[in-house]
Amino acid sequence: MKVLVTYRDIPGKGLIDGLGQRFDVRVNPSSDYMSREQLLREVVDVDGMVSLLSERIDAELLDVAPALKVVTNYAVGYNNVDVAAATARGVMVTNTPDVVTDATADLAWALLMAVARDVVVTDRYTRSGKWKLWRPEAFMAADITGTTLGIVGLGRIGQAMAKRAAGFDMRVLYSDVSPAPTAIEQRLGVTFVDMDTLLREADFVTLHVALNDATYHLIDETALSKMKSSAYLINASRGPVVDERALVNALRSRRIAGAALDVYENEPRLAEGLAELDNVILIPHLGANSRRTRERMAVITVENMTIALSGGVPPNLVNPEVLPNRRVP
Ligand code: GLV
Ligand code: GLV
Repeated sequence: MKVLVTYRDIPGKGLIDGLGQRFDVRVNPSSDYMSREQLLREVVDVDGMVSLLSERIDAELLDVAPALKVVTNYAVGYNNVDVAAATARGVMVTNTPDVVTDATADLAWALLMAVARDVVVTDRYTRSGKWKLWRPEAFMAADITGTTLGIVGLGRIGQAMAKRAAGFDMRVLYSDVSPAPTAIEQRLGVTFVDMDTLLREADFVTLHVALNDATYHLIDETALSKMKSSAYLINASRGPVVDERALVNALRSRRIAGAALDVYENEPRLAEGLAELDNVILIPHLGANSRRTRERMAVITVENMTIALSGGVPPNLVNPEVLPNRRVP
């Protein structure tokens, strides 16, 4: 069976080798992404493809790939894949959950601490040679220990944030479409609140929802206006969960104290004015980007592909509703 790998340098030693042991693997020879035209050409006869989060897997692409049985997305988020279109055509879609949880929470936590304690701004100051005298009143920063964390979306990564917050003696509020089971709430020491309460009470609002119609622009001008003026927004989920233009306005007018972002509405472009602000930290979508995590993502991508193309149900199938009508290998 034929498998397409659109991006040659996907990390994880196991990925291309692992697929190569089982399938006829076609790898993009260039170190760039495939152009859309190339992608539409290369996908026509493949049984499976590995997709990256910056590639759009939509009806147009699925329609030119009549043999395609599975798309293994190399990410936990799969908003780049039109899952309904895949399901309608009998195509399975898989992702890489669990293995990215800790790395993503670690990074969101790093962003939280860095923005609260002005790590990036003061690094720039120190290396610029402007530091002449130690002054106790300079760069007075926010507190972290003992403050209130608001977690939007208590899934795997949201729960990992709550675990970290315990070490900082934080009060942890969360909102979600429904409350978590009491056992989870008790273990994590978290309290379910509505979004309004979370926005009004949190010193740090951190986003851990998937991107979908219900979460698009969840953090808009109205939401930002409810936050404390001393509060910070952390986003390591998906860019379009935040109305980036509204965020620029809120940061510029100091409506909120700051933000730290790993993701953007139109990656890799930034909303106008964002990069000029000094109360925001901007990093280039690195949530899952740790060595061990990338290796594990490769391993489970191979596992999902192998099981899907041998007729089984892959462990990380995101559209189980496809099963009765799936294209069989
Ligand atoms: C990264 O953004 C992921 O979804 O894994
Ligand atoms: C700070 O360096 C302190 O000693 O308090």
